[in-house]
Amino acid sequence: MTNTTVEQLIARSNRLGSNPANTNYAGGNTSAKGTEIDPVTGEPVELLWVKGSGGDLGTLKPEGLAVLRLDRMRALVDVYPGVEREDEMVAAFDYCLHGKGGAAPSIDTAMHGLVEAAHVDHLHPDSGIAIATAADGEELTAKIFGDKVAWVPWRRPGFQLGLDIAEIKRRNPQAVGCILGGHGITAWGDTSDEAERNSLWIIETAAAYIAEHGKPEPFGGVRAGFEPLPETERRAKAAALAPTIRGLASTDKPMVGHFTDSDVVLDFLASEKAPALAELGTSCPDHFLRTKVKPMLLDLPADASVEDSIARLKELHEQYRADYRAYYGAHATPDSPAMRGADPLIVLVPGVGMFSYGANKQTARVAGEFYVNAINVMRGAEALSTYAPVSDAEKFRIEYWALEEAKLQRMPKPKSHQGRIAFVTGAASGIGKAIATRLAAEGACVVVADLDLEKAQAVAAELGNTDVAIGVAANVADPAAVQAAIDATVLAFGGVDLVVNNAGLSLSKPLLETTEADWDLQHDVMAKGSFLVSKAAAKALIEQGMGGDVVYISSKNSVFAGPNNIAYSATKADQAHQVRLLAVELGEYGIRVNGVNPDGVVRGSGIFASGWGANRAATYGVPEEKLGEFYAQRTILKREVVPENVADAVYVLTGPELSRTTGLHVPVDSGVAAAFLR
Ligand SMILES: NC(=O)c1ccc[n+]([C@@H]2O[C@H](COP(=O)([O-])OP(=O)(O)OC[C@H]3O[C@@H](n4cnc5c(N)ncnc54)[C@H](O)[C@@H]3O)[C@@H](O)[C@H]2O)c1
Ligand SMILES: [Zn+2]
Repeated sequence: MTNTTVEQLIARSNRLGSNPANTNYAGGNTSAKGTEIDPVTGEPVELLWVKGSGGDLGTLKPEGLAVLRLDRMRALVDVYPGVEREDEMVAAFDYCLHGKGGAAPSIDTAMHGLVEAAHVDHLHPDSGIAIATAADGEELTAKIFGDKVAWVPWRRPGFQLGLDIAEIKRRNPQAVGCILGGHGITAWGDTSDEAERNSLWIIETAAAYIAEHGKPEPFGGVRAGFEPLPETERRAKAAALAPTIRGLASTDKPMVGHFTDSDVVLDFLASEKAPALAELGTSCPDHFLRTKVKPMLLDLPADASVEDSIARLKELHEQYRADYRAYYGAHATPDSPAMRGADPLIVLVPGVGMFSYGANKQTARVAGEFYVNAINVMRGAEALSTYAPVSDAEKFRIEYWALEEAKLQRMPKPKSHQGRIAFVTGAASGIGKAIATRLAAEGACVVVADLDLEKAQAVAAELGNTDVAIGVAANVADPAAVQAAIDATVLAFGGVDLVVNNAGLSLSKPLLETTEADWDLQHDVMAKGSFLVSKAAAKALIEQGMGGDVVYISSKNSVFAGPNNIAYSATKADQAHQVRLLAVELGEYGIRVNGVNPDGVVRGSGIFASGWGANRAATYGVPEEKLGEFYAQRTILKREVVPENVADAVYVLTGPELSRTTGLHVPVDSGVAAAFLR
């Protein structure tokens, strides 16, 4: 059964949420009150539909709504034990649910239920938060909106804030909404359209007022020497710094990174007021939950060398951790949850850009988006007044709120490779594609590197959006191209953890027919190519200091002397020995180096499709399409080997179960006695 109240609410939420000027990603919530026939009594029952906990307004669906009985929800007012115990009301919402209740009710449910209006929007627009965080926000609200918008002093979201807003609306019957100090806006209406109009009016009026009355340079003038570097230089410096910064940001927990060098960020970092404003931190609860109380800002000019920048970043990181511990120590009470990690989530490098971090790519990206929201908020507040975010004590009460902790505890257990960044060469086809697919399915961020950019990007797109995988062009035989691909990796995901040397090709020829060019090509792509990739990646892995994995897709032919295969098999043997050599050399950094020896992987393999299969089939006198089965019959297990079997081996080698294994080769060949390792 469709309910027009719900339809209108979803449509309005999607419209409001799809414009970032109206609210940050997954920020804010909307609601509608209406009736439905109660299946138990056959009578109409008054209900509240409200966006549930989590989820984004722009993509909200009916399943994302919590559905509560309005009479029961409002009856909570009579049992409300007071602000000291307001958190207990969240559990009480479960006793107000209608039917199965839909999504879990969020902390903002009280605001929506208690306000006497059929339709309510609570949003986090940059323009509205700018007014909300201005030192004289209350006076500004009156000046900008007259009596149409009321001021609600800062209070942590919860039942009491809902009561406050309901009371303010009662006392200001002419008001269409309110500015919530330090936080955001709430607007209402008798119809869905009216609520939406009122929300947009507050947002646009605030923005227009800032544009018209704001100072021209809210962040002060430009700090000489802190201007943005030219793009190429900027990106190169960002790539050179990224692994070290990710390592610092991952001191307590491994983090994935996101890099932004948009004008908003670069202009802020070039400004005179950046150091003082960055120190004040963000204000809207949504913002600082994702960005931490404050960012870490490098205090060196744009042209500081990479070495000097790294040395200073390490000092500042120590300082940041000490400050964070002091913040925890100053505000924690005996029943506060344990400290969650003292590393910054936002690292700002003047002239270069912003690095943001999270447990996965989406979280890292959104943290960066939220800091951009915070920059916009600071600009608006400083344009009209002085930026005055909520106090550290209040930030702590949100960051270490029991309800926030409960939300974190409810998060699903991460997959085995979550937070890891994989770089797979030759991943546009066959075995490499299967490896990339498996690692992405296990939660890794994946870089699909191959000769042809379009093919690499097409495979990446099959794996998911750019939070999951990206495609890069790289000829592994070309050192500059390899370095560029590793740079692209650290800029896309913050660093690199897991490298698979898989790119390859095969020319099967007897000795007398093997040309020097054949020999060079085989060795350039496989022996030299994997050497170059391992070298460029190892530099980043060592700078990160987070351990890592290097996996070589060698071959049965690295140990087995097959016929007519001098160039291919010799270079495979070279790759296999690189595994052992690098296992020894990189072990001290916690980097494990292992290999896989596949054999007879016909299905999906470009090597077999492009002539080698026909050649092998002719050599053995079988039809080409039967080659896989033919190989299977030569094996001990008599089972065909497919690319996914090789991918499984890579997954196990790089997963948590083989943490004490390095220098190993795993055969994936259905059993070939002649290729047993000894
Ligand atoms: N298929 C098998 O039976 C088998 C057996 C043992 C080992 N291997 C090894 O597995 C790896 C993958 O083989 P496959 O069967 O999936 O082959 P494939 O041809 O399907 O995939 C190889 C990929 O490597 C890419 N590539 C080639 N040269 C490159 C270069 N210079 N730089 C970057 N990328 C390059 C190709 O474009 C292709 O996408 C190879 O190293 C191969 O030697 C395969
Ligand atoms: Zn809010």
